[in-house]
Amino acid sequence: MAVHYVGDTEEIPAGTHKVVEVAGRSIGVYNIKGEFYAIHNYCPHQGAPMCKGDVCGTTLESGVYEFIYGRDKEIVRCPWHGWEFDIKTGKSLFSDKTRTRSYKTRVDEGKVGIVIGSEI
Ligand code: FES
Repeated sequence: MAVHYVGDTEEIPAGTHKVVEVAGRSIGVYNIKGEFYAIHNYCPHQGAPMCKGDVCGTTLESGVYEFIYGRDKEIVRCPWHGWEFDIKTGKSLFSDKTRTRSYKTRVDEGKVGIVIGSEI
């Protein structure tokens, strides 16, 4: 495994993200409430640049006729056809079998690193 540092933590404030090129891969690094997550900038449906998609939340499990919004800023919606993925895991919201690659991150001395070889 190798850690690739992609910038200072202040460059990616909470609620924002940055797309970087690391080891020949395009990867989006997201700051969700002070924690960093990294996903492949590639949609498994037809290859869209996933990280150009809106960051949003979703409806949570609830009763019939009850709509509860939650997980704000934890979901990315593909810009081409709207498939939605959990930024924390790379998993789609509609199937456990559909996902984009995700990577572990770490912060060392104020620098955000992506751990290549740690694909989750
Ligand atoms: S390319 Fe992402 S949903 Fe179609």
